[in-house]
Amino acid sequence: MSLEFNHIPVMLEEIDRILTPYKSGLYVDCTFGGGGITKKILSKKNTKVLSLDRDNFVEPFSKVISKQYNKRFEFINDKFSNLQNILSERNFQKTPVAIIFDLGLSSFQIDNPERGFSYRQDGLLKMTMGKNNISAHDIVNKLDQKNLKNIFNLFGEDRDSGLIAKLIVQKRQDKEITSTQELVEIILRAKRYKNNKYNKVDSCAKIFQSIRMIVNKELTELYEGLIFGIKNLSIDGKIVVITFHSLEDKLVKKVFDFFSNKKKGTSRYLPENNQNENFNILNIVSRKPVVASEKEVKKNNRARSAKLRYAIKIKDNSFEFKRSSLNLEKYFQLEEAIYA
Ligand SMILES: C[S@@+](CC[C@H](N)C(=O)[O-])C[C@H]1O[C@@H](n2cnc3c(N)ncnc32)[C@H](O)[C@@H]1O
Repeated sequence: MSLEFNHIPVMLEEIDRILTPYKSGLYVDCTFGGGGITKKILSKKNTKVLSLDRDNFVEPFSKVISKQYNKRFEFINDKFSNLQNILSERNFQKTPVAIIFDLGLSSFQIDNPERGFSYRQDGLLKMTMGKNNISAHDIVNKLDQKNLKNIFNLFGEDRDSGLIAKLIVQKRQDKEITSTQELVEIILRAKRYKNNKYNKVDSCAKIFQSIRMIVNKELTELYEGLIFGIKNLSIDGKIVVITFHSLEDKLVKKVFDFFSNKKKGTSRYLPENNQNENFNILNIVSRKPVVASEKEVKKNNRARSAKLRYAIKIKDNSFEFKRSSLNLEKYFQLEEAIYA
């Protein structure tokens, strides 16, 4: 594999500004990708970085960084939902000074037709980021019509979810659906049938993204990563999250709000005990997400939908958190049902 890796990290300047002043301590980059954020942190004196990525394709990039930074850097090919175990098993410093999540796909994943993430190229239906139990092929060929519709509806917010699900089930009665372009054809057939004014890019992007989120159980991953992060950060430690999907941003906002003293407008779904001071362990510096500058969006189109949220830990408290407090159970339960 070529070691040329063209992923341009989104909002790197903003992340650098948030992490400044850098401390000597452990930084956890939960989504290593091409290592852009990891390298930025390692360029500062006395920092240590533990980087994770579920995709083993990125290991060669980590080896290049390892050579340069040696003992200050370690890469582990694992999911960030497993961070708790990784830290306890491996004798790492257990209270990171910062934890960073830069979600979504790297250019390396999306541009490789063999991975099947892109509706723009022909490839096998895979969409697995790494360490998966199921693939897009399983979703499209094995799920019943109701579950398919729910995925497109909940995760893709597509108004033609029912018809797309129906056409998929019809098509696969003749033969298995194996390629990304077969799926594209079905989506567009549904759109034409409904005579909707539709946008090919938007329609395909939404359906592909909804399948990808289920294949990689992305919402549950993020939820577990966030709760772990908040529990284990050191005091004054920072948690930084960049999302590319409205549902993920909603999840981050709700979790941060729950643990902060800024619970404005959230009383409808927060349990009473959240009014308790003990849950006020985060300081949210800005309630609005940080977005990329126009200049950055011009240079890197991926940045247009990025939303960055961050919080600083101000107090250490043990807590038991009920996921249902977030009012997002229908999404989590759908992920669980598919994985069951
Ligand atoms: C947008 S890229 C990160 C780019 C990186 N920040 C950089 O500067 O190059 C996202 C990466 O996160 C990885 N990833 C996504 N979900 C993950 C998870 N649950 N656990 C570990 N890695 C994950 C993907 O495989 C991908 O390589």
